[in-house]
Formats: sequence, C-alpha cells, structure tokens
Amino acid sequence: MTQAPLSAGQRSAIVVPDLAAVVEAATRRIVARIAQAPGRIAICLTGGSTPKPVYRRLAEEPYRSTVPWERIHWFWGDDRFVPLEDERSNAGMACAAFLDHLPIPPDNIHVMPTQLRDPHDAARHYQDDLKQFYGASRLDPKKPLFDMVLMGLGSDGHTASLFPHGEGLEERERWVVGVNEAKLAPFVPRVTLTFPALASTREMLFLVTGAEKRPMVARVFAGDDLPATHAYSDGAQVWLMDEAAAPEGVR
Ligand code: 6PG
Repeated sequence: MTQAPLSAGQRSAIVVPDLAAVVEAATRRIVARIAQAPGRIAICLTGGSTPKPVYRRLAEEPYRSTVPWERIHWFWGDDRFVPLEDERSNAGMACAAFLDHLPIPPDNIHVMPTQLRDPHDAARHYQDDLKQFYGASRLDPKKPLFDMVLMGLGSDGHTASLFPHGEGLEERERWVVGVNEAKLAPFVPRVTLTFPALASTREMLFLVTGAEKRPMVARVFAGDDLPATHAYSDGAQVWLMDEAAAPEGVR
C-alpha cells in the first residue's frame, strides 16, 4: 500500500492492489471512524456500483456484532428521484446491501424523500432534516455535520449528482439541491448535497476502482475543472483506489 500526500490541499491517495483490497481498506476506515466517535455518529453514503461490496462487508462479521449500530445515523450524498423500491435507488441499494440486515433504529436511516412532488421539494425537506440533525442552520467548519462522507467518481468527472456543467455546482448557501437533468445514466432527476454540505465532514473518502476511471482520476489530480476536483473537505480527503484506477504519479 502506498500513501502519497498530493499537492491539492489535504487530498491524499491510498493505492491498493485490487477491488478486494479497496473493499477491505474502505470497510476498515469506516469502522475506524466509527470507533473514534464517542457519541452520535453520522455517515453520508454514496451510490453507484463501487460501494456495494463495502456495504455488504459491513453487514458481515466481525463488524455485524461489534459496530455500535444504534449510535450511527445514515444519510446520502445524492439519490436518483425514483421510489426506494426502484433498482436505481441509491438508498434502496444500501438498505438491501446492509442497512436492512442490521439492528439500526429506523429513525437513524435518513433516506431522501423521493416520494415528494419533485426533486426540489425533496431537496428542501432533506435540507430541513439535515439542519434539524445538525442543530443549526449554518455549517461551522469546526463542527462537522458528518463523521464520514463516501464519494464516487463518474466517468465524466461527476461526483454525488454534481455533473460537469450541471446544476448545483455554484451553490454555496443551500445544503441540498434538486437536479432536473442527469448528464449520465440513469437519466432521472437527482437530489444532491452541495459542495459545502459534503465538505462538512471529518473525512471524505472517495472509492474508485477499475482502469476505465484512470484517465478521469488523472484529470482530477491534475486540477482540471471537474466537479470531483472541486469537491473539498473540512477534514481529510482520501482517495482510495485500486492500481488499475491510479494513474502514474499517484501510484
Ligand atoms: C450516483 C452516484 C454517483 C456515483 C458515481 C460512481 O447516484 O450515480 O452517487 O456519483 O458515485 O457515478 O459510480 P460507480 O461506482 O458506479 O462507478
């Protein structure tokens, strides 16, 4: 495993041999964050296919019986504006992969309300939920909203549902916005946290695997104007990648 501090702020990269090692390392980082937090814990999940094996792993031993599940609150960085039962739902995926199989109080699972009229309405309600949980309506960098935020990288450089030339990129006030048009499949409206809300965390952990992501990782680390480049964290920002995804210079 190599850990190379990079030039862009506090962003750092961890490169491991393959997908199995990414799953193991990600799971351990999540569990370590949980172990560090004495009271209530907040974790913001991501969608897409990469985190699914991590979620499944969390529901297995030794984590299943040792993690203080009742103390953890689960949120989402973005979701597709589809019902929870729809196979494209990020929340539905995480519930099926692990949340439904663990002793988690239902009130600790903060699903985006995609049953509402439109993604903008859902965004307003989700922002209210987040503010109520946080206990203030302005984010204080010294008091992070989340203990950990998981992130993915799209093949077009998007992260969460913040797409290149898309909606919400410039938002600095609202914590959550509706996105009418997804620029990549699935082409359904989205609800997404904005950069400042995602940044309010002790650790932002990007999970990136596979050779097809490598050119985009290279562009992010070169500082190209892409949403994933603009994602920042008030705490640490860690890119956990397999060797296939890691460009020369990052490995
Ligand atoms: C979404 C995601 C999105 C995802 C990336 C990477 O709802 O589409 O949250 O931002 O993280 O597209 O997805 P993969 O892991 O499937 O490559």
